[in-house]
Amino acid sequence: MLPSFETQRLLVRPRQIADLNACLAMDRDPAVLRYLDVPWRTPQEHRQFVVNRITREYPEGLGYWSVVLKLVPAAFIGWVLLTPYDAVGPEIEIGWRFLRSAWGNGFATEASLPVLRHGFETVGLDRIVADIHPDNAASLRVAEKLGLNFVGERKVGARMLKSYALDRRQYAKAPRTTEGGRQLA
Ligand SMILES: CC(C)(COP(=O)(O)OP(=O)(O)OC[C@H]1O[C@@H](n2cnc3c(N)ncnc32)[C@H](O)[C@@H]1OP(=O)(O)O)[C@@H](O)C(=O)NCCC(=O)NCCS
Repeated sequence: MLPSFETQRLLVRPRQIADLNACLAMDRDPAVLRYLDVPWRTPQEHRQFVVNRITREYPEGLGYWSVVLKLVPAAFIGWVLLTPYDAVGPEIEIGWRFLRSAWGNGFATEASLPVLRHGFETVGLDRIVADIHPDNAASLRVAEKLGLNFVGERKVGARMLKSYALDRRQYAKAPRTTEGGRQLA
């Protein structure tokens, strides 16, 4: 069971099958998928993919978290993941996806900070990576605000992505621009 986190404005809680329709609806916005290569071609495949990502087993302490506003806890605004790279590994990646209506408020950074901290301090990871499309300026900025460093380029499928990474030692002294929130019981 994954922990939940509370930040100044957000609840970051384990993603559940009840979040399925909200996740599917978010993915149907072309702006949300603009810089992503998705593995589905039909609505059925999309649904199957997301159900699988919600219900599959991940290594201890890893998975997806849904993000909601503390003021409106019934309304899903996005998710953060900390999983084996592309669900396979061996590297561990962090990722974020939010509703377009929620962009530009610092939510992705605020929600990802406690997940990053959990990865290093509770799970005991040595290194966390994020590969990002070079034109995805908002996502590149989130990675930077979390303290991840550009480490090179990586070809993933047909695309050349920018690779970011943070290791445990760097994490301890990385500047972070917002508070990391706290873990709920
Ligand atoms: C990437 C994403 C999660 C960011 O969410 P968000 O809640 O808006 O992110 P934050 O507000 O925490 O931070 C975004 C930062 O990027 C900056 N930014 C946004 N658009 C930008 C642009 N076009 N050019 C430069 N900077 C930009 C913001 O100003 C902010 O930086 P700041 O705090 O220094 O001002 C959101 O855009 C999203 O869901 N995109 C679609 C899915 C996606 O691409 N996920 C990432 C895959 S690698």
